[in-house]
Amino acid sequence: MISFSYIHNDSKYTEELIKLLNSQWPRSEYSRKASIEKSNDNLPLYLIMKLKNDDQIDEIIGCLTISTVLNNDKDSNVSVLLENVLIKSKYRGKGYGKVIMKEGHKIMKEKGFRISYLSTNDQKEFYKTFGYIECDPISTSNFGGSSINNGETNEDTVDNSEKVSNLLRIFGGNSKLKKSGSDLVWMKINLE
Ligand SMILES: CC(C)(COP(=O)(O)OP(=O)(O)OC[C@H]1O[C@@H](n2cnc3c(N)ncnc32)[C@H](O)[C@@H]1OP(=O)(O)O)[C@@H](O)C(=O)NCCC(=O)NCCS
Repeated sequence: MISFSYIHNDSKYTEELIKLLNSQWPRSEYSRKASIEKSNDNLPLYLIMKLKNDDQIDEIIGCLTISTVLNNDKDSNVSVLLENVLIKSKYRGKGYGKVIMKEGHKIMKEKGFRISYLSTNDQKEFYKTFGYIECDPISTSNFGGSSINNGETNEDTVDNSEKVSNLLRIFGGNSKLKKSGSDLVWMKINLE
């Protein structure tokens, strides 16, 4: 049976979540943990999806993050940024991605948000199945100096790799991240 929780209410799963995220997007455990520990009922929010395994123990099989966007963007007070959408590799292609996306959208709507943004290199078609369309890049809380939110890299506890990554996502640049940055598309959906 599938169940959902927020990592800040279920922190015994933090190590498992770090492993899941790092299996797809390797990053230092320290940096990962610092990001995850910012999860709160407002934003950013880490949603985990669990499934009981054969031993009847809950295993994390997916996650996503809902983050703020910068306050100088038009519509930013009703907009969120969807990140870290991930299904554990052996569970992919079985409809679980759809399940966690639906839960993520439900949470956004319950919290009063009306627009969800995301960026992706190679999953455009997956997001299109939910109605996401391509759009102009947006600024995210993960870089820059907004002081009104809990954006990950606004605090000293997180290393600079994510700042650089986010700058590259928007402006491009010369690094090993450039290749993935060059195929990046931004997408958005009006939540109904
Ligand atoms: C992207 C990801 C979350 C999808 O999860 P999933 O459980 O495999 O997806 P589902 O089985 O729920 O598929 C949902 C729908 O999307 C479609 N779909 C899934 N991945 C797709 C892809 N790469 N291209 C086109 N369609 C795709 C499915 O066919 C299905 O369509 P349907 O409803 O018409 O049958 C998963 O593959 C994953 O974790 N990938 C690695 C991490 C990643 O790239 N995350 C996105 C970061 S931007």
